Amino acid sequence: MCGIVAYVGYKQAYPILIKGLERLEYRGYDSAGVALLNHGLKTYKIPGKVAELKRFLEDKDLDGNLGIAHTRWATHGEPNFTNAHPHYSQTKSLSIIHNGIIENYALLKEELIKRGYTFNSDTDTEVLVNLIEDIQLNEQVLLDEAVRIALNQVVGAYAIVILSADSPNTIIAARKGSPLVIGIGDDDFYVASDATPIVEYTKNVVYLEDEEVAVLTRGEKLKLRDIKNHEKTPYIQQLEMNLSELEKGGYEHFMLKEINEQSRSVKDSMRGRLNASKALVSLGGIVDYEQTILAANRIVIVACGTSWHAGLVGEYLFEDLARIPVEVEYASEFRYRNPIINEGDVVLAISQSGETADTLAAIELAKSKGAIILGICNVVGSSIARATHAGSYTHAGPEIGVASTKAFTAQVTVLTLMALRLAELKGTIPRSRFIRLLHELEDLPNKIERVLDDKGATKFIASQFKDVHNFLYLGRGYNFPVALEGALKLKEISYIHAEGYPAAEMKHGPIALIDENMPVVFIATSKGIYDKVVSNIMEVKARSGKIIAVVTEGDTTVRELADYVIEIPETEEMLIPMLATIPLQKLAYYIAVMRGCNVDMPRNLAKSVTVE
Ligand code: F6R
Repeated sequence: MCGIVAYVGYKQAYPILIKGLERLEYRGYDSAGVALLNHGLKTYKIPGKVAELKRFLEDKDLDGNLGIAHTRWATHGEPNFTNAHPHYSQTKSLSIIHNGIIENYALLKEELIKRGYTFNSDTDTEVLVNLIEDIQLNEQVLLDEAVRIALNQVVGAYAIVILSADSPNTIIAARKGSPLVIGIGDDDFYVASDATPIVEYTKNVVYLEDEEVAVLTRGEKLKLRDIKNHEKTPYIQQLEMNLSELEKGGYEHFMLKEINEQSRSVKDSMRGRLNASKALVSLGGIVDYEQTILAANRIVIVACGTSWHAGLVGEYLFEDLARIPVEVEYASEFRYRNPIINEGDVVLAISQSGETADTLAAIELAKSKGAIILGICNVVGSSIARATHAGSYTHAGPEIGVASTKAFTAQVTVLTLMALRLAELKGTIPRSRFIRLLHELEDLPNKIERVLDDKGATKFIASQFKDVHNFLYLGRGYNFPVALEGALKLKEISYIHAEGYPAAEMKHGPIALIDENMPVVFIATSKGIYDKVVSNIMEVKARSGKIIAVVTEGDTTVRELADYVIEIPETEEMLIPMLATIPLQKLAYYIAVMRGCNVDMPRNLAKSVTVE
C-alpha cells in the first residue's frame, strides 16, 4: 500500500527512484509520480502503473541529484492525475510524498482556506504540505523546523518526504505509524517505505521511529530529532536481505517462486531453533517470556487474513500440545469491541509485513491494558516487530507476491516450535511423542519438496476448473484453517468466488449450493477425523458435486470417491497444514494464470495494509 522512494546525493536521482518504485510495486498502488530538483522543482505523475510513468518520462529532462517518488493506493480521492503524489505547496517551493492518513485534515484545510490557500486535489497530503509552507513563511523557520511544528498539529499516520526548491542539498523525512527506512551511503541517503529499493546501494539502514524527523543533507551525517524537539541518536542496523531475494530468479511470477521456496523457507524458520537428535527446541526471541506465557490464563492471537489462518492453526497447536487456552481474533474486530484484557495476559500478534494497521492498533490496545505482547513477523525491523515486547521472526525471506504463501508455512512452523517448547516446559507431552514430533518437523522440508514435485497434477486440475464461478473448500480439525486458506488464495488472485468451511458445517447451509457445477476441495488426509470427512465427501457426491481431494499418499478410499486427487506424504496430524496448504496455493496460482489474472498484483489488493 503506497510506496515511498527518495534520494539525495551526488548520483543521478531518477534511475534510483524509478527502480525503487518498481521494487515497491508489489505493495499495491494505482498511480505513480516523481519530483526532481533540477533548476527548480519538476513534478511528473500519472494514474496507472510505473511502466506507464516511465514511458511518459522518456522524453523529459530528468537530470537532478535530489528526488522523491511515490506509488499511491487511493484513500482520499480517486486515483487520478491530481490526486497522485508528489504534491506541491501553494508557492510550488515544496513538494511532498506521503503514506498514511491525516485524520484531522478537514479541520486543517478549513483553517488554511481561511488564510487564502486553495487546493487542487482531494488529498490530505496537499493540506499537510501547505500547512508546512504556511508555518515556514509565517514563523520564518527552516524547513525541518516547519515540518516538526506542523507534525505537532497532525492527528493520524504519516510517512513523509519533502523536497524544497530552496534547499538543493537536503530532504526531510518523518514518520508516525507508517514505515520509513533510511539507507546510509558514503555521502548520500536513500529513503523508502521498506528496504527493498535500498538493498542494492547500501546495507546500512536506520528504521525511523514514530514521531522522528530526519534531516538528510548530502555529504553530511544524518540528523534526527523527535517532534518534541529532542535530539536522537540514529541506530544504524545491517540489512540481512540479499538482492537475489528480490528478483524472480527465472520464475514467471514471484508467487510461483515463493511457493517453490517453501522447503528452504521452512528450513530457515527452524534453523538454530530445532535439533531433533538432541531433543532441543527453543526460540531465542521469547526465551525470557516462557514462564510468563506458561503463567498466563490464555493466549490471545491477533492477526488478519492469511496470518489469521496461521493463528487458527496456532490455536489448535497450543491447545493440543501445551493445553493453553487460546482465542484467535481478527485484529480489526478486537481493536473496536472493548475486549477483556487483563494485566499479564499474553497477546500474540502474527504478521508477515509487520505493518498491518489493524494488527498494530490491536497491539497498542492490548499493551495499554497491561498485556504482554509477543510477535511473529517476517519483515525484520517492521513496526509490529518493534511494538512487541518480544517475538520470533519467521525468516522466510522477502515475500513479494501479494498472495501470502511461504509466509504462511513459516508462521505455522514458528507456532509449532513455540507450542512444542511450551508443551515440553509444561510437561503436557510425553517425551517419546515430543521427540517423534521434533524428528518429523525436521524432516518436513524434504516432504515439502515431494509435495512441490507433483508431476503436473495441480496444473491439470486447474485446467479442468479454470472457468467455474464458485469453489467450496472443506476440512476438519487442523485442516479447517487449510480450507480457509485455500479459498482465500483462490479468490484473491483468480477472482473466483470461494468459501472455506469446516466440512461438517456444510450441512448447515452450504450444501444447498452443491450441484454438478460446484467443485468442492476436500482436505481429506488420513489422520484425525478421516472417516467423518469421508462421510462429508459422500454427501457431496450424492448431490453430483465435483470432488477434488488432497489425500495422504497411498489413500484408496477417497481416491475411489473423488474426481481428482492430489497426494501429499504422510506426516503427524498437526504438521499436515504445512504440507496440505501447498497444493492449494498451486491450484489457485495455475487457475489465476490460466484466467489471465495478474497473480503477483491482484486488483484492489495491497501487500501491506497500512490503513484500517
Ligand atoms: C492473503 C494476504 C493477506 C494478508 C493480510 C495480513 O494472501 O496476503 O490476507 O495475510 O493482509 O497481512 P500481514 O500478515 O502482513 O499482517
